Amino acid sequence: MKYKTRFRKITFAIVLLAITAGLCACGMFPEFEADIEENPESQTEKLIVIGYSQLGSESIWRTANTASMQKAFTKENGFFLIMENGRQRQENQIKSIRSFISQRVDYIVFSPVTATGWDTVLQEAKDAGIPVIITDRMIDVADESLYTAWVGTDAHAEGKKAGQWLEQDLKKRGLQYEDINIVILTGTEGSSAADGRSAGFKEVAQRYDNWHILAEGCGDFTPAKGKEVMKTFLKEYSDIDVIVSQNDDMTFGALEAVHEAGLTTGIRGDIIVISFDATREALEMVKEGTINVDIECNPEQGEAVVELIRRLEAGEEVEKKNPVEEEVFSISNVGLHMDERTY
Ligand code: AHR
Repeated sequence: MKYKTRFRKITFAIVLLAITAGLCACGMFPEFEADIEENPESQTEKLIVIGYSQLGSESIWRTANTASMQKAFTKENGFFLIMENGRQRQENQIKSIRSFISQRVDYIVFSPVTATGWDTVLQEAKDAGIPVIITDRMIDVADESLYTAWVGTDAHAEGKKAGQWLEQDLKKRGLQYEDINIVILTGTEGSSAADGRSAGFKEVAQRYDNWHILAEGCGDFTPAKGKEVMKTFLKEYSDIDVIVSQNDDMTFGALEAVHEAGLTTGIRGDIIVISFDATREALEMVKEGTINVDIECNPEQGEAVVELIRRLEAGEEVEKKNPVEEEVFSISNVGLHMDERTY
């Protein structure tokens, strides 16, 4: 009996499948056809295909930057996004770019982990006729025609703003003639974000004989490394007046090290803290006075890249360099901006 029932069920299923297949072939199930239509793979011909290489996921800022790109490159906006994570290694990013070239994407968009070493792969993209848009950090190539445009943050200007803020703050407090001992926590070696911020800050620092840069150490834009490097600074120097930390994640680690050493930071503290990025968590600390100033590095670049691609698609000329807007947040203005900060 059991065997017969199972046999009947299988026969019924086969007949049902055959009928369904037949009806589909005759166009009797319009919803099913609509489903096929919605499959992104069947739509790639109509969509602009973007090969996007994000450099990694090292910081809160990076997560916000990735989210901004994903929010902008949607099907609804007319894009099909192929995204790859370089995990902080240039060779991974180069591999991704080569795979985008062989997939014949319409545009290559990438955020370069380091500034140099892109010439060969970008020449390959150029030879394949694929426009390249650089985002976030900048590259250093001999031939500027290897990329179509850049949308990103001006790290040199950010570093300069940090120096100018310190200049003003010391003046306001009548400390402009005092000896000021500074340590710098730098980001990823060879990145335009770290090199630009260092250069911009030093451009201001070199005007003052009483500003002494005691040490610089690479914290790789992460809290753990920021803390580790700050600990070594604290062991070596007992008279640090200012910490310049090139991103908020390193700042969080550095603050832990300073507080564990029994010192205080911020507007009423032993050490002045200058941070970069202006993430929500850090802005809360500016508000409560633990961090003195946060120089914004704006991760919301997705819409600007989409806008640029639309203009290129329309055959318009575009600016080669497109820096995004950035502010400086201290106790005097941070309250006004807290609500709009989502990351
Ligand atoms: O390139 C931008 C920098 O990279 C941000 O300051 C930092 O947080 C990130 O990792």
